[in-house]
Amino acid sequence: MISLLVVLLLFQQPASIRAAGAPCDSQALGQIPTLKGSWETHEDPHYQGYYDAAAACPSWAKDWDCMLDGDVNREELYTAYSKVYKPYECDLRPWNPEQFADCTAAKRIIMIGDSLMRQQWLSLACLLNDVTVSGEHHLWDEEKYPVAMEHDYIARGIPGDFRIPRQYIGRFDLKSGAQVFLRAFGRFNLTLWDDVFAEFQPLTDNDVIVFNFGAWYPRYNVHESGDPWKAWQEDMTELINLRLSRYAARIFYRSATATHFGGVNGTMTFEKSLAAALAEAGRCKQSPLNESWYEDWMKTFLRSCGPRCSKIGILPVFDMTQSRFDAHHGNFGRGKGTWTLDCRHFCTSVTDVWNVVLYNQLC
Ligand SMILES: *[C@@H]1O[C@H](CO)[C@@H](O)[C@H](O)[C@H]1NC(C)=O
Ligand SMILES: *[C@@H]1O[C@H](CO)[C@@H](O)[C@H](O)[C@H]1NC(C)=O
Ligand SMILES: *[C@@H]1O[C@H](CO)[C@@H](O)[C@H](O)[C@H]1NC(C)=O
Repeated sequence: MISLLVVLLLFQQPASIRAAGAPCDSQALGQIPTLKGSWETHEDPHYQGYYDAAAACPSWAKDWDCMLDGDVNREELYTAYSKVYKPYECDLRPWNPEQFADCTAAKRIIMIGDSLMRQQWLSLACLLNDVTVSGEHHLWDEEKYPVAMEHDYIARGIPGDFRIPRQYIGRFDLKSGAQVFLRAFGRFNLTLWDDVFAEFQPLTDNDVIVFNFGAWYPRYNVHESGDPWKAWQEDMTELINLRLSRYAARIFYRSATATHFGGVNGTMTFEKSLAAALAEAGRCKQSPLNESWYEDWMKTFLRSCGPRCSKIGILPVFDMTQSRFDAHHGNFGRGKGTWTLDCRHFCTSVTDVWNVVLYNQLC
């Protein structure tokens, strides 16, 4: 019955979300073309986000933080944190940690991707601090956690001796019994994926996977003689066809988010002179071109995949994130004094909203 409903929703064109003023429909959120909306200043003039990172984030969930570590453009920082995202067509249910914990009780949430997925996991750890029992988070190293160390994993399409970096491992447990895992690595490789998932087998319909690959496949990378965009499509096709579509788990592809490093078209190209100019200015700029191609490709792929992919949805954060070039770490001093101002990672005022969207889809 439920799977029939999912199939019906999938083929509704376009999937309906309710009118403004009504809560966003959790099923439809993952199937809609985009979650269009706008960032507006919160009605409370003192509003500065969901939590105070210094007080609310667990000691094991620390990262570079705009509020705590930012040392330039403080005024703009307060503006960046005063904004809330309002979708045009429906209202997101406000964040509620107890409800999140209850609705995911006894589930495993497995978050896989690059450093932006790590940011989302860290944000979730801060948002859920009050309902968390324990947690850990560290660099992916063999001594602490000997997972997927069997091989030097090779990235598709990159010639030479490039090996996929294994970045971070994390886990926290909620009072409700839910477990939230992080496995962060930049590029996809099927063998690496299987070695990581060995400990999670068997997957059941009680499991949730949130994944994203994109930032390590910069579309116009001038230093990569391969074609990262083609490699990304082949990697995602392999991942979905050979693995995700066969899992019992509920799965979300978190849209690739905008990176605004230099380059003529604004995307990450590794063109040093352009990145240096950005660093010199000390501010991240809007991309002349946006990076909607990743989300667009995924939508088309899932639509044509049909019922086989009915458990795979999209966490549609591309649109809301695209406009937030004002909320990159680099604007507040990360990368200052180097040629790569950090115009890739986001302040928690943005990544927290990704988790609110996840909450609205999951619960
Ligand atoms: C993934 O990594 C394994 C182990 O290094 C390698 O044998 C395989 O060819 C890689 N896959 C691709 C598509 O490069
Ligand atoms: C984007 O930039 C790259 C390299 O700088 C260039 O080769 C490519 O043609 C540009 N694409 C568009 C659509 O402008
Ligand atoms: C991104 O670019 C596409 C293609 O030009 C456009 O349709 C879309 O509206 C843009 N999205 C944003 C958020 O700017």
